[in-house]
Amino acid sequence: MKTMPAVCIYSYGGPGVLVYEDAPRPHAGDGEVLVQVHAAGINPVDWKIREGHLKEMLHHTLPLVLGWDVSGIVAALGSGVKHLKVGDEVFSHPDLARDGAYADFIVIKESEVALKPKSIDHLHAAALPLAGLTAWQTLFEAGGLAAGQRVLIHAAAGGVGHLAVQLAKWKGAQVIGTASAHHHDFLRKLGVDQIVDYQTVRFEDVVQPVDVVLDTVGGDIQERSWKVVKPGGILVSVVSPPSAAIAAARGVRQAFVFTQPNAAHLAEIARLVEAEKLKAIVETILPLSDATRGQELSERGHTRGKIVLRVI
Ligand SMILES: NC(=O)c1ccc[n+]([C@@H]2O[C@H](COP(=O)([O-])OP(=O)(O)OC[C@H]3O[C@@H](n4cnc5c(N)ncnc54)[C@H](OP(=O)(O)O)[C@@H]3O)[C@@H](O)[C@H]2O)c1
Repeated sequence: MKTMPAVCIYSYGGPGVLVYEDAPRPHAGDGEVLVQVHAAGINPVDWKIREGHLKEMLHHTLPLVLGWDVSGIVAALGSGVKHLKVGDEVFSHPDLARDGAYADFIVIKESEVALKPKSIDHLHAAALPLAGLTAWQTLFEAGGLAAGQRVLIHAAAGGVGHLAVQLAKWKGAQVIGTASAHHHDFLRKLGVDQIVDYQTVRFEDVVQPVDVVLDTVGGDIQERSWKVVKPGGILVSVVSPPSAAIAAARGVRQAFVFTQPNAAHLAEIARLVEAEKLKAIVETILPLSDATRGQELSERGHTRGKIVLRVI
């Protein structure tokens, strides 16, 4: 049996349950491709799964390889693969229910893989899929954001936020973003029209009504966000489902988005990267063997842009 270096968990828990070891190399089945991983992005869901928060929903079998953002090269095809060939440079947010990309190889369904933008390297491509799909599916699919509308993006400097800002600007929306002061220059460069320091200002005191709120924080931030949604507008959360009763009472809409792998949306994202309308900012690059450190950094909750593991 061929093996490969991988970062796995055998039990749920803190960073100490991560194991860097030789794991069996997987094989591509029907409709799947084997991808040689060059870089794997880190997302909060990685340590949430490690801690067991999604175990009722995802029913993983342990050991589990973590990491659900990848950029790499197609190394082998399973039967029935139609649109990809060996040697293609690809990127993907693969299915959270299966083994992830903190490894030399990953098997991914063809329907979850798109060609990587040629103009960027694997490290930057691996930063895009999960956060980019989240921004796309919240703003455009759930939120219906249109040119001329106003959008409030919470945690605008984070992984999802910094891509959502750029997608909303590309769409022609007016963007309000929240972040602490040390991210404000960064947000200005991304084109945010109004920046709110969430540590010193209550956003609902200074933000005029908006068409769409993107809630990436939850809790009190979500509760206070109702006050700034225009009649007919929408509060979209990726953290917890907003109350349908409150939405109805206020004459607004609400949605909870659980990001879905989607090759067509990824291809749109790749097109915008090639057109220089969208760029992932990678704050930290670490070797695969330092996945524990990467997750600890992510868990602190103050990432600017993305953290990525270099695998090759
Ligand atoms: N439902 C889904 O499918 C889905 C998909 C993607 C993400 N998510 C969830 O969405 C959340 C965000 O994901 P992410 O990848 O963007 O995380 P991230 O990159 O770790 O976010 C870090 C950012 O959050 C900011 N932040 C923290 N507290 C804040 C607050 N109270 N107000 C404003 N900004 C705040 C930080 O800014 P400062 O440094 O200024 O504090 C930092 O820039 C996570 O909980 C993640 O699990 C869910």
